[in-house]
Amino acid sequence: MSDSEETGGDPADEPGAKGPLPAAGAAADGRDHGARRTSDRRGGAGAMTRRALLVGVGAAGGAGAMFAAMGALGLAPESHAPERKDFVPPRPSDFSLSGRGAAKVVVLGAGVAGLTCAYELGKAGYDCTVLEAADRVGGRNLTLRAGDRLAENGGRTQTAAFEEGTYFNAGPGRIAPWMVAMDYCRELGVPIETFVNNNASAYVYTRGMSAPVRARTARADMYGYVAELLAKASSAGALNRRLTGQDRERLGEFLRRFGDLGPDLAYRGSTRRGFETYPGVADGVPLGAPPSLADVFAAGMGRAITMDFGYDQAMPMFQPVGGMDAIVTALAGAVGRDRIRTGSRVTGLRNLPDGVEVTHQGGTVRADYCVAALPPHLLARLPHNLGSSVAAALRAPVPVAAGKIGLEYGRRWWEIDDRIYGGVTETDLDITHIWYPSHGYHSRSGLVVGYYNTEENAELYGRLPHHERRARALTQGKKIHGEKYRAELRSSLSIAWHRQPHIEGGWVRWPSYEGGFALLQRPAGRVYFAGDWLTHLVAWQAGAMESARKAVTELHSRVMRTPS
Ligand code: ALA
Repeated sequence: MSDSEETGGDPADEPGAKGPLPAAGAAADGRDHGARRTSDRRGGAGAMTRRALLVGVGAAGGAGAMFAAMGALGLAPESHAPERKDFVPPRPSDFSLSGRGAAKVVVLGAGVAGLTCAYELGKAGYDCTVLEAADRVGGRNLTLRAGDRLAENGGRTQTAAFEEGTYFNAGPGRIAPWMVAMDYCRELGVPIETFVNNNASAYVYTRGMSAPVRARTARADMYGYVAELLAKASSAGALNRRLTGQDRERLGEFLRRFGDLGPDLAYRGSTRRGFETYPGVADGVPLGAPPSLADVFAAGMGRAITMDFGYDQAMPMFQPVGGMDAIVTALAGAVGRDRIRTGSRVTGLRNLPDGVEVTHQGGTVRADYCVAALPPHLLARLPHNLGSSVAAALRAPVPVAAGKIGLEYGRRWWEIDDRIYGGVTETDLDITHIWYPSHGYHSRSGLVVGYYNTEENAELYGRLPHHERRARALTQGKKIHGEKYRAELRSSLSIAWHRQPHIEGGWVRWPSYEGGFALLQRPAGRVYFAGDWLTHLVAWQAGAMESARKAVTELHSRVMRTPS
């Protein structure tokens, strides 16, 4: 087994992690996002009349009203892919038609929220500067590959010893189809593929079990016994106060299917549990009879078999091909590398009577507006003049610890031996989950996420040096996959998000959505706030993007209301 190089020392002395920025000026997104029909094709006096009308509408009602008026006049740009219903991005025509100039905006943080702000404002011609403390873009959107260095607060640094072609999504790893992140993948041309979140062939392992069982077996037994209890209770009349005779009949019909019950409403197991030997030319050998109802309940696998029930976890889910950082690489390319100043930690933020002033390691930036897209706990530490209520609000969200380990194997034993193609094994061990890769099937090697944990478990692992995190993760995973889990490991790399410089948390938890959450939805003077932490989609890139869109919309609407 080789492993990531692990070194001590002050991370400030390290040249840093990685710099996956696209080449300077790459593409400037190469697309025409602007309005194609900003002039009236019929020309003449009619066009002037329309322009004058639009200027008036824009001044009175902001960009949204003007855009609506443009649509009514047949001037709105045509779009083959309709925008999401509630977001009208700023467009160059908003300025050309209203006689205003685009403002200068300084964006704090080149994470998903900051990049989305700069991207959307940049489409309309805003003069954006993005200040980023790290020497890479992306924030928590981080994909690690061979040779990448990962420094932690506290002085430890790892270097990925992965093979060429192996990648580890150390931050976000999955996207639900309803999320706006999918729209950005489409718009930016980021290819996506299915992320297998739910796999009946993955395992469930709890401390209440003597051995791991396949998820299909766990579900069959749990659904079977629950269905049996309910069907028998209903048939004995225990639910008569709630059910009519017809309800009872329909419920019984459903439960027989749901639990694969016998005619006597008993659950005795079935082929749904899986097979010792799957059918082929010869008939299959099904797994034996299920454990007793008491043993199934005692296994405590409720969380494990309901993980994918949530609206944000249900199949199908998706991932960018080649690594999650394809999203931030594309966003940064579209913003323009020359507009993003990495290695520029912000040291102060001030509202001025006519603008904002941001000091950073490399100097001072003055702009008309600021979008602060840093984690709230870092903003809270920044000297600023935004007032005591804002200061208190920024202190309210509590950073949540989160950690992951990437375990690279030279043989895809989970596919070859265990027939697991993507998906997640759920456990109640301190590793919480094991993720199998949803790409590169049947290639020679691959990377398994050996833990993805949060809160106390992440803090526990985070306190350890990498080699001890790895040892602990292997001991736990071995309970599920046996000795090969340890013996066949090639290399590994772990991240503790709460120890990541300039981030210091996997995400945040709001003790209450009253007060501070609402206050920070509004600008403090000329400073707007953006981030997943300002949404009900905390810990999702989509949250960062939705919040960015809101900040951009409000900022643009204000600019359009400001007399030219
Ligand atoms: N977005 C995080 C996840 O997918 C919470 O696990």
